[in-house]
Amino acid sequence: MKLTAYEVRKDEEENLRKYAQRCGVDELVITGEPLTGETLELAEGAAGVTTLGQSVINEDICRQLHQMGVTGYSTRSVGYNHVDLEAAKKYGIRVSNASYSPHGVAEYTVMMILMSLRKYKPALYRINVNDYSLDGLVGGELCEMTVGIIGTGKIGETVIRNLAGFGCRIYAYDIYEKEEVKKYAVYRDLDTIYKECDIISLHTPLMDSTYHMIDRDAVKKMKKGVILVNCARGELMDIEAVTRGVEDEKIGAVALDVFENENGIYHHDRRTEIIKNRDMAYLRQFPNVIMTQHMAFYTRQAVDSMVKCGVESLAAFARQQDYFCRLA
Ligand code: COI
Repeated sequence: MKLTAYEVRKDEEENLRKYAQRCGVDELVITGEPLTGETLELAEGAAGVTTLGQSVINEDICRQLHQMGVTGYSTRSVGYNHVDLEAAKKYGIRVSNASYSPHGVAEYTVMMILMSLRKYKPALYRINVNDYSLDGLVGGELCEMTVGIIGTGKIGETVIRNLAGFGCRIYAYDIYEKEEVKKYAVYRDLDTIYKECDIISLHTPLMDSTYHMIDRDAVKKMKKGVILVNCARGELMDIEAVTRGVEDEKIGAVALDVFENENGIYHHDRRTEIIKNRDMAYLRQFPNVIMTQHMAFYTRQAVDSMVKCGVESLAAFARQQDYFCRLA
């Protein structure tokens, strides 16, 4: 059985080989490139292909994979907004995503909240130039705050459990309410979350219904000084509205691990290149805006699971078996 793995980082290679061997894969092609029309030929003769989130698996790619005899596709990410599931079904390609522990992203989210609350970015800048002043660095205490968690899937629920220890009031929003979450948080509608929360963190998947959910209207409803955190998908926020909110001082701080149109920028060294994402460059310069390179997921445990799911599912599909992360 041949498998082709795209968008492979160096730190995934050992695990990829380990799981490929365990699953009886006799030919494993590894490339750092995304799966596009140009790199498709690497999948010739493969039973399945795996990518991360940068390859867009649209109808055209599905059709070409089908013509090459590829019958399985796995994304080594939890999010699958880059995959056209209908097209995959149409061309008989079985699809899976990854499953990994929610703790990495949940803990990172708490870190982003605390860094924003305690003005860690300007404090860190100052210490590096021997400026030990405190002016403008006064913070707040989480125990006195109301935190809104939008999306109570595995990650949102884990953030809520983690936050429970801080003694803050926690509001939650999701279209599906979970009994377990109600032990620590109160479900409220979105408008109440916008109106009453001091901190709002997004943990919802990117879908048509959540695209740009944090828009000008939503920001208008929020409390002055609100802290916004996004470790989910950049496209959940209309960045123009968020930037305007920071400029007007309506928004007190923003912490982003993701950014709309981050593809091709995040996870690459672009130090000597011209980056054409004006929104990203402009927003990053504010002292109350923290941005990181989509790394909330990045723990040893998660990387192992991502690769494991990516390879095991393709091997199962090649043997006409099902897999617990199957999407289509
Ligand atoms: C995910 O698993 O959905 C992530 O956001 C991780 C990233 C490598 C695509």
